[in-house]
Amino acid sequence: MAIKTIIEPFRIKAVEPIRMSTREERERKIREAHYNVFLLHADDVLIDLLTDSGTGAMSADQWAAMMRGDESYAGSRSWFRFEESVKRLFPFKHIIPTHQGRAAERILFSVTCKPGDIVPNNTHFDTTRANVEYRGARAVDLPCGESRQTGERHPFKGNMDVAALASLLDEERAAVPLVMLTITNNSGGGQPVSMANVRAVHEICKRHGVPLDIDACRFAENAYFIKQREEGYAGKSVAEIARELMSYADGCTMSAKKDGLANIGGFLATNDEELARQERDLLILTEGYPTYGGLAGRDLEAIAVGLDEVVQEDYLRYRIVSTDYLGKHIAEAGVPIVQPPGGHAVYIDAGAFLGHLKSLEYPGIALAVELYREAGIRAVEIGSVMFAHYDPETGEETAAEKELLRLAIPRRVYTQSHIDFVVEAIIDVWRRREDISGYRIVYQAPFLRHFTARFEPLT
Ligand code: F0G
Repeated sequence: MAIKTIIEPFRIKAVEPIRMSTREERERKIREAHYNVFLLHADDVLIDLLTDSGTGAMSADQWAAMMRGDESYAGSRSWFRFEESVKRLFPFKHIIPTHQGRAAERILFSVTCKPGDIVPNNTHFDTTRANVEYRGARAVDLPCGESRQTGERHPFKGNMDVAALASLLDEERAAVPLVMLTITNNSGGGQPVSMANVRAVHEICKRHGVPLDIDACRFAENAYFIKQREEGYAGKSVAEIARELMSYADGCTMSAKKDGLANIGGFLATNDEELARQERDLLILTEGYPTYGGLAGRDLEAIAVGLDEVVQEDYLRYRIVSTDYLGKHIAEAGVPIVQPPGGHAVYIDAGAFLGHLKSLEYPGIALAVELYREAGIRAVEIGSVMFAHYDPETGEETAAEKELLRLAIPRRVYTQSHIDFVVEAIIDVWRRREDISGYRIVYQAPFLRHFTARFEPLT
């Protein structure tokens, strides 16, 4: 009999204990955290699926490389190692290191956008949208039609609606300083973008003379999906696919906290010399000198090795299959999820799960609180709290298009029994879903409110 189980392709050398807790304790903790899981102490969480960002486990090779970190202020050895490793996958002329992805976004939008501009994206992530809006520009999402059918399977639900992009550029070309494509599409369910779609977007941008930038956080997972699902790519390596994808772009932003397999770090890249000069000037002002950009030499080393490891196919096979395992098992029990499961996360359709709640009773928050109470699992709402349009003057709120709860899987951290535990807990909550009530917001910040908002149960 052939063995079908795909094992974690690593052994565990260092362990980090999980502190067990009781339901009573968690009831108290979540109340004290004003029902916002961001306000919990991580020690009070059993399985932390809040994010896959910066939460991965590093390899022995990464730790060894960190000891070789060169902490010279300018021109350090670690910088050159970092730059070489980045350019192997991201063949852009200028690489500019930053402390994380949003710092790259802030620099990019600061030098390219002005008030009144429009930035189209398949779907902006929260920090991307906030950084565009902070410049007074408008962040426009153009997801493909398939992405709206939450429960339907489609191989590339992360694609951009190219017809919508073409008509936007026909009408508003002068207001568009750049187009972005987020791979994989995080807010849209962790769904990949096909190479054909990247190429089509590239053609339209070229025709209009607009630069295309890739939000590359999960580029390796996206490239692996292309290898699995798109005709003509089965025989190519993930690194080759990543390079081809980047070749259609003029630059990128990257959070190395995801597919850099590091706990901190990022970069932006461009082929445009003048843009690079302006970006470096701003970098020096707020991040650091261009050969470290807010990172220690040892962080540059960890990323350099992480980028080599993340494109290894044994790793990616395990990564994609283990995320799929979680999605498959809860979906089989009837739990509505975004199909198919994404690369880094499974997205529960909280609106359908808690069908008796209205969008502005925040079903994603209700489900997050319940999963924490039930089993100490922490997940994140991607719905109206994160993305509703809120008008501070009138207090009026328009719901987001979808109410999702994201279970993001940290890289190389949890084993299959942890995930089995998560599956059981979700199914338990599913069985008593009708008893779960909604929430209202009692405090919120003017932007990125989900991080600090405070809630109260409606009953
Ligand atoms: N772009 C995307 C698509 C992201 O998912 C993130 C971060 C960023 C940019 C910003 O990168 O955190 O390094 O500043 N996403 C995390 C998440 C926080 O949980 O999905 P950063």
